[in-house]
Amino acid sequence: MEKPYILHMFTPAKNLSPFDVNMALDAGWDNAVGYTNVEKDDVQALTQDAIFSRSPSGVKRTGIFLGGRDMHMAMDMMEIVQESMVPPFQVSCFADPSGAFTTAAGMVACVEQALKDKHDTDLTGKCVIVMGGTGPVGSTAAVLAAKAGASSVKILGRKKDKSQRVAALCNSEYGADLLGIEGEANDMIDGIVGKADVILACAAAGVQVITEEHIKNAATNLKVAADVNAVPPSGIYGLDVMGACEPIEGSTNAFGIGALAIGNVKYQTQHRLLQEMHDRDDPIFLHFERAFEVAREIVKEK
Ligand SMILES: NC(=O)c1ccc[n+]([C@@H]2O[C@H](COP(=O)([O-])OP(=O)(O)OC[C@H]3O[C@@H](n4cnc5c(N)ncnc54)[C@H](OP(=O)(O)O)[C@@H]3O)[C@@H](O)[C@H]2O)c1
Repeated sequence: MEKPYILHMFTPAKNLSPFDVNMALDAGWDNAVGYTNVEKDDVQALTQDAIFSRSPSGVKRTGIFLGGRDMHMAMDMMEIVQESMVPPFQVSCFADPSGAFTTAAGMVACVEQALKDKHDTDLTGKCVIVMGGTGPVGSTAAVLAAKAGASSVKILGRKKDKSQRVAALCNSEYGADLLGIEGEANDMIDGIVGKADVILACAAAGVQVITEEHIKNAATNLKVAADVNAVPPSGIYGLDVMGACEPIEGSTNAFGIGALAIGNVKYQTQHRLLQEMHDRDDPIFLHFERAFEVAREIVKEK
């Protein structure tokens, strides 16, 4: 009898995400087994327990998924998973905490495509502001935008010191301090919105962070605004949740991308990464960088 495909899903949270379980089974995994309240210190033992019970052909049908709510925790756990492998007992691992890696990848890939289609440009040298940038989706989007060439990326949140802490962590962990991401308080938005080429709205569900007034003040510089909040009201005033690069009301030059248009790319990205891990014989380690490559391929196919 052929061994089943088993995905071991570790999360530091109290519950595993039913969304991720559905996604795993729909991508071809036979079983998705959850481990909750997992701490970093647990990861080595859990990983080695998962690999040593299967033959080398069995480990090819075994994978590890890392969930939770924290980008940095998921990346740290992935490093521990990698270090815990004992060849030839090696399995693939995919981190997507709170869906943030695939959501941010979908968002930034859609923004790049909109810049190309509507303004014949890309993220190089652009000024990007990330509302709700202290959360997992916003932090990941900020890192991806900076790595894609944006010259100024500002994470905004309700408290300046928190935004600065998160920005510093993103720079030191993923950019060797070269990314230059900055932290700012939401109440400074009036002073900076006019300089933004791109606005990414990544605040908590149901919170409008960009108002009608902000859109007016953004003037002609604003090129693309994207929102991942699917719960009314939209994170950006006047943005249609289904909008796939529509002109933004009240703006002269900007196009909007709504949460469901981004969600569609996010969904396909997560599906393909789960399939990639399932189908590959050699171990692979997938996080926001591979998610971004796949999301870019998906938006180009449209
Ligand atoms: N479309 C999709 O496929 C998809 C997938 C996953 C998530 N999402 C959505 O993406 C967004 C971001 O997700 P997330 O998990 O990163 O969000 P989150 O952690 O819940 O919130 C992000 C940030 O929003 C800020 N915030 C919280 N309450 C606020 C309020 N009342 N007013 C202003 N700011 C507030 C907080 O920053 P400060 O404390 O620093 O202000 C927080 O760090 C959410 O809207 C979520 O529903 C969409």
